[in-house]
Amino acid sequence: MKHIFARKSIEQLHREAEGDNRLRRVLGPAQLTSLGIGCIIGAGIFVVTGQAAHDKAGPAIMLSFVVAGLACVFAALCYAEFASMVPVAGSAYTYSYATLGELAAWIIGWDLILEYTVASAAVAHGWSQYFQEFTSTFLPRLPKALSTTPFDYDPGSGQFVATGGFIDLPAVLVVAVLTWVLIRGIRESARFNTVMVVIKLAVVLFVIGVGAFFVNPANWQPFAPFGYTGLSLFGHTVLGQTGAGGEPLGMLAGSAIIFFAYIGFDSVSTHAEEAKNPRRDIPIGIIASLIVCTVLYLAVAAVLTGMVPYHEINIEAPVADAFRRVGLPWAHLVISIGAVVGITSVLLVLMLSQPRVMLAMARDGLVSERIFGAVHPRFRTPWLSQLVMGVGVAALAGFLPLRILAELVNIGTLLAFFVVCAAVLILRRTHPQAHRPFRVPFSPVVPLLGMASSALLMFSLPKENWWRLFVWLALGFAIYFLYGRRHSALRTANTQPPLPGE
Ligand code: ALA
Repeated sequence: MKHIFARKSIEQLHREAEGDNRLRRVLGPAQLTSLGIGCIIGAGIFVVTGQAAHDKAGPAIMLSFVVAGLACVFAALCYAEFASMVPVAGSAYTYSYATLGELAAWIIGWDLILEYTVASAAVAHGWSQYFQEFTSTFLPRLPKALSTTPFDYDPGSGQFVATGGFIDLPAVLVVAVLTWVLIRGIRESARFNTVMVVIKLAVVLFVIGVGAFFVNPANWQPFAPFGYTGLSLFGHTVLGQTGAGGEPLGMLAGSAIIFFAYIGFDSVSTHAEEAKNPRRDIPIGIIASLIVCTVLYLAVAAVLTGMVPYHEINIEAPVADAFRRVGLPWAHLVISIGAVVGITSVLLVLMLSQPRVMLAMARDGLVSERIFGAVHPRFRTPWLSQLVMGVGVAALAGFLPLRILAELVNIGTLLAFFVVCAAVLILRRTHPQAHRPFRVPFSPVVPLLGMASSALLMFSLPKENWWRLFVWLALGFAIYFLYGRRHSALRTANTQPPLPGE
């Protein structure tokens, strides 16, 4: 039993970080914020917003963005405290290994695999939609069989329906190309990212600035056609309206879906080792990127629902389509290009991150080191792991519809947030003396609010997601007890390392 609580020592983490080339402390608050925005703005605002407004919230989707943004801020503050205690490059997986022990680390790591893999597939779909919008201006459209997944969920009937498609080929191809690029080794450079962020922001500001002239305030009425709530407990509606398939509808249910648009801000904390002043700048970077994105999202949602009556919003490429409807085909082209560029950067970062988490887990012996720990002799990348991920993402993106993938990502990420917020509270109690360069303000209120808002949004998701999450976690437990626990590199360690400052 004691083994599952075994912790990795902070010294060991520092030694491991020094083993690779040490990263230089070059990033200030502006660059960190820009990195955050680079990983955040993507398929969420360009695609999922349309679906959520159309199916769940109507114009009240604007409020949904505020609610989801707040939940992220609470979690982000907890994330920053957790990260500052273990200030090495890494992820929630590494932090939990050092603070909560092996089993908790495994669960978070397993959850992160779900988040990155499924999010990549969802984002690849968004990419495909805008890529097809873009090419449709000068090429004939792809036949349906090759441009969309074989089935989708129809909120009107509450049933899964055949789409007439067979595979989302552009999504599969973009995953294949990026897998190849990542195996050859492209370093996520701050400068490359900045270019992408500038293009992305320019397009978002363009949408807001130009779109504002085409807003018809009458489209904002009724503001909340599905109500302001939307809460269910495993399929039993507690508050608000219920859709044809039993899923909750309303502003809150909309928040649970567009939460997807905020995923990625945690990536700022993975740059702790490169920050000039991590103690101050990491929290600034996380919070500032969240605030910037919330404001932009709110404005885009206002413009979109103001330009098009919510029930007529196109759910595939909603933003570009809104401009085509008002007779601005050139704007449609600009937006499609911007969306393709913006979504590519998010996809690249998501696909870069997952094999790195798996590499850390392989080095700890929790997953097969032969596969997930293999580093290419020439390219110095975790090539086999990247390839396995690429095949998995391509399969999901080719055949599963975006809304199912996005919901699954959300529930997995919200669970990780819940655990991180709870961990902050637990550690404050069990290790009060540990050194905390950044402390969550107003603890325990903020961590408790973080836990409550994550749980609320999890319950606002359709119930199938809970079963999917349970299956994933059960699989994770089985792998841990059959493989990870036996192969764990820490297995022989019998002393518990202290946390820093103890
Ligand atoms: N937040 C990311 C996006 O919207 C996942 O694409």
